[in-house]
Amino acid sequence: MISSTFSILALPAVSLALSQQQPLYSSYDFNPLEHLAGIAPYFEPNDPAKDPSPPQGCHVTKAAYLVRHAAINANDFDYESYLGPFASKLKNTTTDFSKIPGLTFLATWKEPDVKEQERVTRTGKLEAAQLGVQLSYRYPDLRLPKRVWSSTSERTTVSAEALIRGFETDEDEIELVQIYESKESGADSLTPYQACPAYSSSRGSQQSQAFAKKYTAPILARLRAQAPRFNWTSDDVIGMQEWCGYETVIRGDSPFCSLELFSPDEWLAFEYTQDLMYHHNTGYGNDVSGSIGYPWLNATADLLATPPESDDQDIYISFTHRELPPTVLVAMGLFNNSDLTGANDINATMPTTRINYHRQWVSSYILPFLTNVAVEQMNCSASYGYQNSTDPTYYRVLVNRSPQVLPDCYDGPLESCSAKVFQNFVQERGEVFGDFGGACGVKYSNSTNVTGFYQNQTKGETVGKR
Ligand SMILES: *[C@@H]1O[C@H](CO)[C@@H](O)[C@H](O)[C@H]1NC(C)=O
Ligand SMILES: *[C@@H]1O[C@H](CO)[C@@H](O)[C@H](O)[C@H]1NC(C)=O
Ligand SMILES: *[C@@H]1O[C@H](CO)[C@@H](O)[C@H](O)[C@H]1NC(C)=O
Ligand SMILES: *[C@@H]1O[C@H](CO)[C@@H](O)[C@H](O)[C@H]1NC(C)=O
Ligand SMILES: *[C@@H]1O[C@H](CO)[C@@H](O)[C@H](O)[C@H]1NC(C)=O
Ligand SMILES: *[C@@H]1O[C@H](CO)[C@@H](O)[C@H](O)[C@H]1NC(C)=O
Ligand SMILES: *[C@@H]1O[C@H](CO)[C@@H](O)[C@H](O)[C@H]1NC(C)=O
Ligand SMILES: *[C@@H]1O[C@H](CO)[C@@H](O)[C@H](O)[C@H]1NC(C)=O
Ligand SMILES: *[C@@H]1O[C@H](CO)[C@@H](O)[C@H](O)[C@H]1NC(C)=O
Ligand SMILES: *[C@@H]1O[C@H](CO)[C@@H](O)[C@H](O)[C@H]1NC(C)=O
Repeated sequence: MISSTFSILALPAVSLALSQQQPLYSSYDFNPLEHLAGIAPYFEPNDPAKDPSPPQGCHVTKAAYLVRHAAINANDFDYESYLGPFASKLKNTTTDFSKIPGLTFLATWKEPDVKEQERVTRTGKLEAAQLGVQLSYRYPDLRLPKRVWSSTSERTTVSAEALIRGFETDEDEIELVQIYESKESGADSLTPYQACPAYSSSRGSQQSQAFAKKYTAPILARLRAQAPRFNWTSDDVIGMQEWCGYETVIRGDSPFCSLELFSPDEWLAFEYTQDLMYHHNTGYGNDVSGSIGYPWLNATADLLATPPESDDQDIYISFTHRELPPTVLVAMGLFNNSDLTGANDINATMPTTRINYHRQWVSSYILPFLTNVAVEQMNCSASYGYQNSTDPTYYRVLVNRSPQVLPDCYDGPLESCSAKVFQNFVQERGEVFGDFGGACGVKYSNSTNVTGFYQNQTKGETVGKR
């Protein structure tokens, strides 16, 4: 009796204390892995927290996905510029890090031993396979795709194979079609930027270096105070922050991600440095971005214009590199810092002297490993308020599963876009961005403005179980 009285009184008291903890003490937490831009392991930011399921009364009838390859050991440029130099400097140092609080791990840290830098990691293969499984959950009523497309480099084909193995239930149900990474493909490839002379892969580094110099200065002062003989440089700081991402996707975790080593604000500054680069490289800060991304949007709109029965597949998945998805988002007008401002002062939205914390162009959302941009065709005949007996078709865009609202194209359920308005939208974007050859200053004679390979019915190869 006593004990039961005790428990009746005690339990509510305990749960009350727990439920009060949240409002009383703020729960600040910070995950550097979600701020690593192109080195961020795959995650689904869901910001704003819109429901990823289709709007009420709608069901998805077709979908197209553009996917960046999954996590790799290291990008060659990052390795040669930052990761490698820091690792060899560390190997060679006379500084005894074991005696330096906060940096003791550097006394024993060894660079991961990988066969080839640009290979997809185990984590990457697993995550690509997992995306295949997730697509099967997301679209239980759609037919398994017959073909998946990938550009020809190893990391894109290996990622596509892993997704296929996760998606198919029996072996050899899905074929992989490889699209050559040509410098003269015009827009007819999954790597059109490589065939675009006006695109330069180093664009944006000047702006990003300007900000890197600023944010690393106080970090360098601290590191120099801690370990004066190491001759710390700004590139060492960037190298260590990049090792956080790469080591995590190779080994599962990394001491470089520690918030004792770099504070949350220092990770946000690293992220902004990367965002500046991508903004000027493949974002709104580069005039040619929209023209590089448009042909995929247009080809996709074409694939999704017809009802499902009229094609031999419902789901179109294509693997590419980090450059293409952001340009497609520019072609769609998404993540535009100037959106709804009534102005279009592109450079002013990304100053190199301070962080624009409220920018929309957040590359950790836009191009993490395995980033995926999807366009869905939906039948909304059962929706309330949006019935159209002539055509119940609506379109929706998801970026890493988060529903997006297209500018001037949101007349449908939950700001999705009706077939008629979507068709006009794609056409109007084409009036701005449809001249790939002109915008790119293409010199070769056999160029094309159109991505046509989806119509080719090329036979691919099955991938087996491995
Ligand atoms: C290692 O240190 C020595 C002596 O300071 C220097 O001559 C050499 O260039 C360094 N090697 C590397 C790879 O940094
Ligand atoms: C143009 O020709 C080159 C060289 O033969 C080829 O690689 C490329 O795919 C062609 N481009 C198109 C759009 O057919
Ligand atoms: C320190 O690093 C700078 C920049 O890499 C280099 O020029 C300089 O020679 C280094 N100094 C020493 C003492 O190693
Ligand atoms: C970005 O938004 C501004 C303001 O609405 C607009 O003028 C501009 O055309 C947009 N950029 C693109 C590429 O859609
Ligand atoms: C934005 O900055 C780039 C690089 O500094 C420059 O080339 C471009 O003219 C600027 N654009 C505008 C509209 O000021
Ligand atoms: C839309 O879905 C409804 C209900 O499933 C079906 O009756 C109708 O035929 C579909 N319309 C189209 C155009 O697919
Ligand atoms: C219904 O769909 C048709 C065909 O796309 C379109 O022409 C018409 O404007 C739509 N009606 C409404 C009320 O949205
Ligand atoms: C969009 O794609 C269609 C179908 O392939 C093509 O006819 C049209 O010319 C393309 N539009 C632009 C602006 O490239
Ligand atoms: C690309 O589009 C532009 C503008 O519409 C046009 O002048 C040009 O001829 C097109 N190029 C090709 C190869 O079709
Ligand atoms: C698609 O087929 C056309 C016509 O056979 C060919 O010219 C083009 O190169 C093919 N495109 C790709 C990317 O294979």
